[in-house]
Amino acid sequence: MLKDLVLKNRSYRGYDSAFRFKREELMELVDLTRYTASSVNEQPLKYYIACEKEEVDEILPLTMWAKALKDIQLPHPGMGPSAFIIICQDMNISSNTTRFQRDVGIVAQTILLGAVEKGLGGCMIGSFRKPELKKLLSLPEHIEPNLVLALGRPAEKIVLTEVGEDGDTAYYRDENDVHYVPKRRLEDLIL
Ligand SMILES: Cc1cc2nc3c(=O)[nH]c(=O)nc-3n(C[C@H](O)[C@H](O)[C@H](O)COP(=O)(O)O)c2cc1C
Repeated sequence: MLKDLVLKNRSYRGYDSAFRFKREELMELVDLTRYTASSVNEQPLKYYIACEKEEVDEILPLTMWAKALKDIQLPHPGMGPSAFIIICQDMNISSNTTRFQRDVGIVAQTILLGAVEKGLGGCMIGSFRKPELKKLLSLPEHIEPNLVLALGRPAEKIVLTEVGEDGDTAYYRDENDVHYVPKRRLEDLIL
């Protein structure tokens, strides 16, 4: 079961834009994070939920997608996500953003697995225009955006492959827009 969810939990960059979230569904996903591990149990992470189409459309241009695919602009027009959850750190609780990077990874994966369990999916976006996003969302000074999660109903095919002898881990797309993601073999991970 868990392996199925982990396998389905790909970085989706194309969504069915007709799908809309209810805010409560996104609140449920954030609720999962309350039960996850946190360094010294400080729990400094806070979440901004955007699911109104106008706001999602304003956030989208501040996010960068699949930088490795130089000639492809993703998401394709009309295939953007239906919501964003912006994972932020409350600097009044802790200003040590390095220490809580790991917390960010844990909550991000938890939210995405929760979405996949509902037949949905998302993509972590670490590459985004932070000052502009802070301004757009009117976030107070002590709230520092750390990672953007795009969410929606995936509308693209992603295939996992094995990293070959050349060691190349670069993801790529074929002429049908199928997205391929090479993963290292188990033998190559064990020390
Ligand atoms: C911390 C983190 C930040 C990421 N930032 C971006 C990003 O800014 N834009 C993007 O398109 N993908 C981003 N990704 C997605 C990765 O490109 C993706 O995980 C990788 O290509 C492997 O694909 P997979 O998630 O389907 O296994 C990020 C992933 C992680 C873990």
